[in-house]
Amino acid sequence: MKNSNYILKVDALTKVYTAGKNQKKALSSVSFTLDSGLYGLLGPNGAGKSTMMSILTGNLDATSGKVFWNGKNILKNNKPIRRVLGYMPQQQNLYDSFTGRRFLLYLAALKEIAKKEMAQEVERVAALVHLSQELDKRLSSYSGGMKQRLLAASAMLGNPHIIILDEPTAGLDPKERVRLRNVLAELSKTCIVIVATHVVSDVEHVAKEILLLKEGNLIDKASPQALIDKYAAGGTLEDVYLAIFGEEQP
Ligand SMILES: Nc1ncnc2c1ncn2[C@@H]1O[C@H](COP(=O)(O)OP(=O)(O)OP(=O)(O)O)[C@@H](O)[C@H]1O
Ligand SMILES: [Mg+2]
Repeated sequence: MKNSNYILKVDALTKVYTAGKNQKKALSSVSFTLDSGLYGLLGPNGAGKSTMMSILTGNLDATSGKVFWNGKNILKNNKPIRRVLGYMPQQQNLYDSFTGRRFLLYLAALKEIAKKEMAQEVERVAALVHLSQELDKRLSSYSGGMKQRLLAASAMLGNPHIIILDEPTAGLDPKERVRLRNVLAELSKTCIVIVATHVVSDVEHVAKEILLLKEGNLIDKASPQALIDKYAAGGTLEDVYLAIFGEEQP
């Protein structure tokens, strides 16, 4: 049985990048708690979205702070979250000589999905992103949007309990963008889905809450409607974005 009471608690998460004498504080003591549902992480370029996602997924060390997955500090030992996590980084390289199917099978193996379930699981996630017909083509022949959808599919392998997607809709045509949004909304009924995006419409009507990140600080975290009432009464979530981030809107 799937337990849908997952809790991710981020406590005073701070990241300082150091390069020689230069220091850059990318996250300043960010704290929040999420339970099942879809969350939009909004903020302009350089706000710290990818930094946060890299830390949550164990791909980057934090400078200080804690992250608890169902009560266990995963910055010390990420074992409790590793196998139940689906992650789509903002930038990644694909093996051009692989077919889509081989790529997904490879990731399914890394996720330690049972051998007898792998083939079916690959078909399942490919169908979610409308790639069933393209699975046996080489990635070198995929368009940018197809690669992006394949990566989104890979984050859904193995029925994860938490799915973290860094700008998943970048490069998707409107039809595929809506399709992915609906799939994520459906999945978020039983797990935690966090989506970093600049496209407010990706999350406006499906997010339980929006986290607003500005220069490494969490400005607010609330439902889209609560944010509209607070920052742009009578307006839209885009108006909230503009009210908070002003001219930084890309
Ligand atoms: N490896 C790094 N070394 C030094 N500084 C970095 C590094 N990665 C990111 N930064 C800095 O940290 C800040 C946050 O970057 P991050 O990539 O997390 O932002 P973001 O919100 O994901 O932006 P975008 O919308 O452009 O993807 C930026 O000022 C960036 O220049
Ligand atoms: Mg980013």
